Amino acid sequence: MWWNNIIIYQIYIRSFNNNLLGIIEKIPYLKKLNIDAIWINPFFPDGGKDGGYDIIDYYNINNKIGTMNDFNVLINNLNKNNIKIIIDLPLNHTSNKHKWFMDSVYKRNAKDDWYIWKTKENIHKNWKSIFEKTPWEYNKIRDEYYYHYFYKEQPDLNIANHLVQEEIFNIIKFWINKGINGIRFDAISNFICNDDLNNIDNNKLTMQLNTKDTFDYINILCKKIKNLNKNIFLIGEQDPFYSSIYHETELLKSLDSIFNFNFAYSNNFSLINLKNLLSNNNPNKILFTNNHDVDRNRYGEDDLKIAKIICLILLTKNNTKIIYYGQEIGMWNCKNNFIDNYGRDICRAPMQWYNNKKKYDLNKDWIELSDNYKIRNVEDQANDTHSLLNWYIKIIKISKVLTGNIFNIETNENILSYKRRTINNEIYKFTINFNNNDCMIELL
Ligand code: GLC
Repeated sequence: MWWNNIIIYQIYIRSFNNNLLGIIEKIPYLKKLNIDAIWINPFFPDGGKDGGYDIIDYYNINNKIGTMNDFNVLINNLNKNNIKIIIDLPLNHTSNKHKWFMDSVYKRNAKDDWYIWKTKENIHKNWKSIFEKTPWEYNKIRDEYYYHYFYKEQPDLNIANHLVQEEIFNIIKFWINKGINGIRFDAISNFICNDDLNNIDNNKLTMQLNTKDTFDYINILCKKIKNLNKNIFLIGEQDPFYSSIYHETELLKSLDSIFNFNFAYSNNFSLINLKNLLSNNNPNKILFTNNHDVDRNRYGEDDLKIAKIICLILLTKNNTKIIYYGQEIGMWNCKNNFIDNYGRDICRAPMQWYNNKKKYDLNKDWIELSDNYKIRNVEDQANDTHSLLNWYIKIIKISKVLTGNIFNIETNENILSYKRRTINNEIYKFTINFNNNDCMIELL
């Protein structure tokens, strides 16, 4: 399928180049990088609480990001340039400002059960929230508690409800009809909780995440989507901390891909760790080191050289991979904390295009540009043959001719090497010297 082994570029829209039309302006840059697809973070009207992941209308565009017409124009332009588009759908929860939630609070429009409501006596006391002390928030009007795994402003939809399932499918159909090529299902492990009150499990979250009902539902949903269009790439964001191999296998029975979080949640880029990563090969898991949730500054002192090693390993593996905007120029964290309680905005600062602030057209009500733009920016790196940006361009070009699995992974003291075949039956040998963090590429 078209998504095997491709390189996806992740775009946090307001930070990349202000809005949807801003992406079009940067298509030449994406072509120069030679990526195959973009994944855009949520672009819907949102409640302002979780960087776009608290939606108030699934059928519209956030007016800070653009209009529906802009979206159509973007898709047209991407099509012309042979770049696929993957959208990010947070369907597990909405914003508490969503009309459906209001309807549920007031028991209007048959939406009483669209969220998970419990009386005081019936709440599962052992359930957890990842962002708040408790996953149960009291609502005065209903005199009941609603469930939220994430922020309390993000009530979980009751996906076990068939009407909610119908609505979810309508949302998906709507965007497929617009011409998207793939979907990232946000928080897919969370979809349907196990509501058995007798089942007490204190710490393991077994009632909340990766339940059998979730797997069954995803299976039906994916089949329905593939019946509509089998070329839609379906990616599930499984829970990074609570997904066993068993859970992942279940998800992969229905989805095309899930994430390999090993790289992104690691600070250890030692030879041993990277060797393990090279050897461990599940081609159905997408590889990435960075995204909108993780720290950019994990490479230590020699970060540019480590970034080159990471780029090499990431892009020469036999997997689908993602590059998070700015990673290709070695952007650092920006200290500014803007929206997110957990400080995740540090990795969501504006893309560093230029070396001169006057050349930027920055959003006024947005995360500030990091000062780091002076030393790490596209403008300077494009002109420097030894830059990280040009290294990315070079490795992406090589990665396009690679085929089959990695072989001959060898280590010798502080040196790691491995090989991969090309479509012309030549062999590339990649060598990383951890004494000085240099990389060598040979065509044998
Ligand atoms: C996913 C997103 C994260 C968001 C959460 C809740 O994990 O990557 O940014 O906060 O879902 O929607």
